[in-house]
Parts: sequence; C-alpha cells; structure tokens
Amino acid sequence: MEKIGILTSGGDAPGMNAAIRAVGKIAAYKGIKVYGIQRGYLGMLNDEIFPMDNRFLSGIVDRGGTILLTARCLEFKDQKFRAIAAQNLKKRGIGGLVVIGGDGSYRGADSLSKEHEIKVVGLPGTIDNDIKGTDYTIGFDTCLNTILDAISKVRDTATSHERTILIEVMGRHAGDLALQACIAGGGDGVIIPEMENPIELLAFQIKERRKHGKLHDIILVSEGVGHVDEIAGILKEKLATEIRTVVLGHVQRGGTPSGFDRILAARMAEKAVDILENDEGGVMVGIESNKIVTHPLSYAWDGERNYDMRDDHDLALLLAR
Ligand code: ADP
Ligand code: F6P
Repeated sequence: MEKIGILTSGGDAPGMNAAIRAVGKIAAYKGIKVYGIQRGYLGMLNDEIFPMDNRFLSGIVDRGGTILLTARCLEFKDQKFRAIAAQNLKKRGIGGLVVIGGDGSYRGADSLSKEHEIKVVGLPGTIDNDIKGTDYTIGFDTCLNTILDAISKVRDTATSHERTILIEVMGRHAGDLALQACIAGGGDGVIIPEMENPIELLAFQIKERRKHGKLHDIILVSEGVGHVDEIAGILKEKLATEIRTVVLGHVQRGGTPSGFDRILAARMAEKAVDILENDEGGVMVGIESNKIVTHPLSYAWDGERNYDMRDDHDLALLLAR
C-alpha cells in the first residue's frame, strides 16, 4: 500500500495526537505516504484532505485534543454520501485508512471498507473506555487522572463543610470512569449504569460512615444513570447531611495525555501501519492482557464487552466502607 489516510472521529480524547504522530512517522519510515483528513468523515466528504508532512507532526505528542479536528457527520450513515467520500480518497490513490474513534466511527469505517474496498483499521480513541475488544481505549487513563485530581480538590472542601458531594463524571453509557475513579480516588460510593444502585443502601452506608466519625462523603455518579441533581434530590430526603453536586463536564476531555495513553497510542499506531502495509484491513486494534490484538471491526458492537464490572464494584464498595 502506497498511500493511506488518517482521521479522528466522534468525541476527542487525549492521546489522539500521539496516535496521529506515530502513524505519520512509522508510515513515512516504511515509505507510505500519509494524508490527514480533517473533521472526521465530514472532511472526507468535503474533500478536506492534505498530505501530512513531518512539520505537521512536530510538537504534538503531549497535546490533548486532536490536531486533525473531529466532527460528527450524520450524512456518513447514508451510502450515497459514503460513495462521494470514498471517491475523494480514490482520486488521490489512497487505499487505506486509519480511523481513530469509538464504535460509531467503526461502523462508518466498516461500511466504507465493504462498499468501496478501502482497507480500514480502527484505533479505539475515547475517554469512555466503552469499546469491546480492548481493555483500554486511548484517552481513558488521562481522563481518569483528571477525575482523580478533581476528587482530591472536592474532598478538601467536603471535609471542611462536612458535606456529602456527588461528582458526576462522563462515560456515556459506560461506568468505567466512575467505577475506577471511585477505587483509585478513595470514593465513598459509586453509581453506574451496569449495576443495581439502590439509593436506600447508599443512604444507609453514608449514615454508617457518619456514625463512625467520617466528616465527608464523595460519591461518584456516572452520567449514564441520569442527572446527578435528581439523585441528590432523592438522597436529600433520606439524609441529614448537606448535599452538593459537581458536574465535571468537558474538563475531563482535555489535558496533556498521560504516559500510559501515549504509549498505548504508539503501540496501536504501529500495529495499524503494519496491517495496512500488508494490504490488510477491516479490523480494530485493541490491547488485551497487555498484548496488542486485532478483531474484525464488527466485534466492537457485536455482543457484550468482556469487562465484568462485578469484581471491581465489590472492591469499590469494600474500600468505601
Ligand atoms: P464514536 O465514534 O465515538 O462512537 P459517534 O457514535 O458519534 O462517535 O460516531 C462518530 C461518527 O461515525 C458519526 O458522526 C458518523 O459520521 C459515523 N457513524 C456512526 N454510526 C454510523 C453508522 N451506523 N454508519 C455510518 N457511519 C456512522
Ligand atoms: O464519548 C465521549 C463523551 O465525552 C462522553 O463521555 C459524553 O457523554 C459525550 O462524549 C459528550 O459529547 P459532547 O462533547 O458532544 O457533548
């Protein structure tokens, strides 16, 4: 394969730039020309495609966000528009594509590859960690650490005022961020979509903590269970403590990528270029049990993820006591 394209799609995630840089540098080393596609599938459709030289890649390994920009493009769900986008690749002789995004982006990639014989490799780029076929996604670790920093700050004021504070974190329908932040951040309770979360039990646990002299409670709430203020409202009726809510929001999506995310991005990028160099495609790259692996793109949305949260949930509740 002589020419490949690369794009980022869906929500941005720290470490996407490290992946773009690694794809660009490794492909150049192998004599493969790389084209950057701006704004994800929207840019492919609008012909925003340019040769990505080394200057474009310099100074980006430690930058959050994506220098290629990202967008959501509903037209790409329509075969007619995918044909226009594919033509924009073909007229430049681009036969392969690296798509960095979530499973929605993989669906688009899968259709494109089947309809137009473009070899596609998906790299998991999202803070949500919600992609089947990989233990970790690029951006999750950085986001987790951003949340941990916020928990420490919130805990200071929660203790001073002896309050119960509910912190809502992102994750879309996945509870990974909330659950792992609870374990690592010393949270005192967690509410995630994958588990039953009886508010009565949480209220009981908070009362028990207070009986044992605890001055605060930090509860991690995944956005996938609904708005944090509604949960605070129900909890208020059951508790005597003062309650506040914090919605961390988009601060979770930014920031310098962690070492873990940069290394993950580099390893996955190397695999993606290897696959395309061999004229193969139709796969996503993941990391499982610390090994770089591949699966067909459809694996990402076909069936349940392998992460059974019950053990970590038990651990979080044990540590919250
Ligand atoms: P993510 O990739 O993070 O899951 P989205 O679900 O928003 O994010 O998908 C990103 C983009 O991928 C969409 O804006 C659209 O362009 C494309 N896409 C999503 N689902 C499909 C689909 N079923 N068919 C074709 N393209 C899709
Ligand atoms: O998928 C990443 C994510 O940050 C989710 O955690 C969140 O639900 C969503 O994107 C927010 O999307 P937007 O940036 O469009 O508000």
